[in-house]
Amino acid sequence: MSLSVVILAAGQGTRMRSALPKVLHPVGGKPMLGHVINTAFELDADKVIVVYGHAGERLKAEFSGEPVIWAEQAEQLGTGHAVKQAVEHCDTDQVLVLYADVPLVRASTCRTLLAALDQADVAVLSVELDHPTGYGRIQRDGDRLAAIVEHKDASVEQLAISEVNTGLMALNGQKLNAWLAQLNNNNAQGEYYLTDIVGLADTDGSTAVAVVCDDADEVAGANDRVQLAAAERVWQHRQAETLMRAGVTLLDPARVDVRGTLSVGQDIEVDVNCVFEGDVTLGDDVRIGANCVIKDSRIGKGAVIKPFSHIEGAYVGAKADIGPYARLREGTELAPQSKIGNFVETKKATIGVGSKVNHLSYVGDAEVGDNVNIGAGTITCNYDGANKHKTIIADGAFIGSGSNLVAPVQVGKNATVGAGTTLRKDAPEEQLTLTKGRQQSLDWLRPTKN
Ligand code: UD1
Ligand code: CA
Repeated sequence: MSLSVVILAAGQGTRMRSALPKVLHPVGGKPMLGHVINTAFELDADKVIVVYGHAGERLKAEFSGEPVIWAEQAEQLGTGHAVKQAVEHCDTDQVLVLYADVPLVRASTCRTLLAALDQADVAVLSVELDHPTGYGRIQRDGDRLAAIVEHKDASVEQLAISEVNTGLMALNGQKLNAWLAQLNNNNAQGEYYLTDIVGLADTDGSTAVAVVCDDADEVAGANDRVQLAAAERVWQHRQAETLMRAGVTLLDPARVDVRGTLSVGQDIEVDVNCVFEGDVTLGDDVRIGANCVIKDSRIGKGAVIKPFSHIEGAYVGAKADIGPYARLREGTELAPQSKIGNFVETKKATIGVGSKVNHLSYVGDAEVGDNVNIGAGTITCNYDGANKHKTIIADGAFIGSGSNLVAPVQVGKNATVGAGTTLRKDAPEEQLTLTKGRQQSLDWLRPTKN
């Protein structure tokens, strides 16, 4: 069976009150439209057509990597009119209509809907709602779907129906074109309703059915920021559940946010309020303390990330010990068993096996060997105001506290740099290097207050 997926994304989304097009508002760090495009490809769709109205260039730029077809709907004259803009591309056995502002629908639900086309020509995804106001009502006639009546066109009896149209619909691709051609806008809103296809199917001897979705969260739309926040929570709840089923302990599954892809090993423990962004991989037995933000990074087996650490674009080796309050920036590569302590910032730095930067330091554009100790308050002075320069520290070196290493500069193997040194030339291996003058004590009286 060949399949086209038509994604409706032409609505203006004024209720978002935003300069950003509605369908680009993110859920779990990904634009809503991106979620729906993903779902379409998960279904192995032969064609994915996005019907857009506003901000076309912006949308196309955002999804330039996706093999989707763009169809413009210059004026928003209704859902039927929207699908009509895409129909020339829908030369497939089946057509599935999805909404870009219903981002959480599962591929499995779509498959169930498409499977209903085995016995029918139109299959509408419905849901039972306690508060059906505003939705199209599902009017059944036994097993058959007789009609969908829009809220504004409904009678008092019809308004009492609590089964509503989610808007998601699977259609016989061979018949769709003829149905669309027959739509008119003689209704309360003066719109071309896609839902009128149900009535048209009935008159030409085709069958329509409604398939009930039992998870209302899955088919909820995000029209304003309140609904967007609700969708975010549903998405995060799903992510948390997936993580726990994969062997991750979440101390509170309601207090973790995954905005991207989090790949995990087993027996990982994540404390509350951690945020994972972009592509993050956590090895087996990793422990992450409360309030950490980790983005586009890999954390090796058994590493411990203590609370309030911020890690971005970094690789953390096995059994490394990070934080609390560490900041690892892009290009940080920490070998196994290394240690980065509180208020330490690293950037474009490789740190060798067992090396320690325990307190209050900046290590940037640096290569640090194995078993190096970098004392508290050490700064690699990597920037001369125009260019960045490199600091190289060989195995076994010891940098005394409060030192400034003015790059480009090298510290030799097993060298010792005295506390408070400002190193402007290389420090030779195996020796103690000091740059401050001899210590003096003078007779001097502290001024007293007048
Ligand atoms: C539609 C359904 C209604 C259903 C409801 C579920 C019709 C006539 N009605 O209502 O039965 O209960 O969805 O939310 O289909 N869109 C376009 N172009 C347009 C109009 C809409 O692309 O000209 C897109 C919107 O961006 C949105 C979706 O279609 O993603 C639904 O539009 P919306 O106005 O929210 O729904 P209704 O038409 O009110
Ligand atoms: Ca509407």
